Amino acid sequence: MLLRRGGPGEVGAAAADLVAGALAAGARTLGLATGSSPQPLYRELARRVAAGELSFAGCSAYLLDEYVGLPDGHAQAYAQVIRRDLVDHVDLDPASVHGPDGSASDLDAEAERYEEAVVGAGVDLQVLGIGVNGHIGFNEPGSPLDATTRVVRLAEQTRRDNARFFGSLDAVPETVLTQGPATILRASRLVLVVSGARKAAALTAALTGPVTVDCPASVLQRHPDVVVIADDAAAAGLTPGR
Ligand code: F6R
Repeated sequence: MLLRRGGPGEVGAAAADLVAGALAAGARTLGLATGSSPQPLYRELARRVAAGELSFAGCSAYLLDEYVGLPDGHAQAYAQVIRRDLVDHVDLDPASVHGPDGSASDLDAEAERYEEAVVGAGVDLQVLGIGVNGHIGFNEPGSPLDATTRVVRLAEQTRRDNARFFGSLDAVPETVLTQGPATILRASRLVLVVSGARKAAALTAALTGPVTVDCPASVLQRHPDVVVIADDAAAAGLTPGR
């Protein structure tokens, strides 16, 4: 595991360097997180594409997760979020961006379909964020570490954290479809992007604590190729130079 840390402005550029390096080395299948953490990365990728320094031509992408039950086209559905945050600003074909369908009538069948699609595609580089309770994807504390894509009930902490996107707690869906820890670990390389003091305890537990369902992100310790990019506030609990 490699830890790169720096000021708040450096996280996006450091993560973009990894994406650019992967593309140059032939990566064509990306795994994408949504939410605040990857936004500096996505802004930097958009800048590089606009500057002609980078191209996503021929690439496809797979989202980690999706809310269940939002009306089609809802602004906070992750399919919409990733379009606004990345796809609209780069040369990634929107038809090549995939996510679980949170409005499917049979959610278990949809979870199975999506798991097969992600595994079949083979993710070269997976971008991850971490929740303050140590979730990755929406694998909340207590999630079996060998779980695959499935329906999950969000922790109250996560619903409160994400209420900022919905305007009120009541509007945040209670369930999601998420890739499981086992799905995420299949990606060739994992890039965890973490910013802010609120994430420090979760990041410290994930990287230096035991591998446990109490902190699902601790499963990253089992992957041979993880790069963690954290700003100084998020990395405050980690020993420099580790
Ligand atoms: C989102 C996802 C989540 C987020 C996490 C952190 O696709 O999988 O694990 O990465 O909840 O969210 P932010 O970045 O908004 O703090």
